[in-house]
Amino acid sequence: MPPTPTPTPTPAHAVFKSPAHLPLIGPSILSGDFGRMEADCRPLLENGADYLHLDVMDGRFVPNLTMGPDMCRWMRKYFPTAALDVHLMVEEPEKFVDAFIEAGATNLTFHVETHKGAVATKLADHIHRAGALCGLAVNPPTDVAPLLDVAGAFDVLLVMSVNPGFSGQAFIPSVLEKAKRIKPLLRKDQRLEVDGGVSPKTAPDCRAAGIDTLVSASAIFGKPPEERKGVMQALRGS
Ligand code: DX5
Ligand code: ZN
Repeated sequence: MPPTPTPTPTPAHAVFKSPAHLPLIGPSILSGDFGRMEADCRPLLENGADYLHLDVMDGRFVPNLTMGPDMCRWMRKYFPTAALDVHLMVEEPEKFVDAFIEAGATNLTFHVETHKGAVATKLADHIHRAGALCGLAVNPPTDVAPLLDVAGAFDVLLVMSVNPGFSGQAFIPSVLEKAKRIKPLLRKDQRLEVDGGVSPKTAPDCRAAGIDTLVSASAIFGKPPEERKGVMQALRGS
């Protein structure tokens, strides 16, 4: 099923839908300095980051609390043209999608563990009609079949390579088998994203499995600012 056309395509949408290059690199601000987020993120966007990834956790779907629409609004204020990729690790994403779209989110990814089949495609349709892109994520222990069933309706398919909740966990290589199954189903305007434990060490295997969009928190923000450009280049394989 093709995604519902988004009403107002913007340059931020184009980062995912018609990328100038692949792979895309998306630093996850979860490992950024929450006291100086704008200053921490600006050099990344000026030095090769293609988008910013915002990890939203509700303390229910995952055992942690992080950020809400207000963080998205501030990022949009300081980075008016950046692509903002909001990862909803929440039990009831339908309660929050409108607030994130109003706050300037470019893409909203929710999880197949909470929404499958027609329930998932209905929410994707709502998000598209409201003007944002939409992604579907699958956790490491979850079978990929329900994601494959509805993949055509999404702009981003996200393979989690850690059990979500925290940055800094070890990459789970077996999830790359899921990426290999998803990849042949995708159109050129769909992205295959990986999130969790992505580092210069694990990125080559991700790229080899067909992943074209890499999220990374601790491998980037865990380095001093002057080394982060090099980390992003290494993730990209350039
Ligand atoms: C996992 C989050 C990730 C996380 C990645 O719960 O969805 O985006 O921040 O962190 P690293 O790259 O450190 O594994
Ligand atoms: Zn994430």
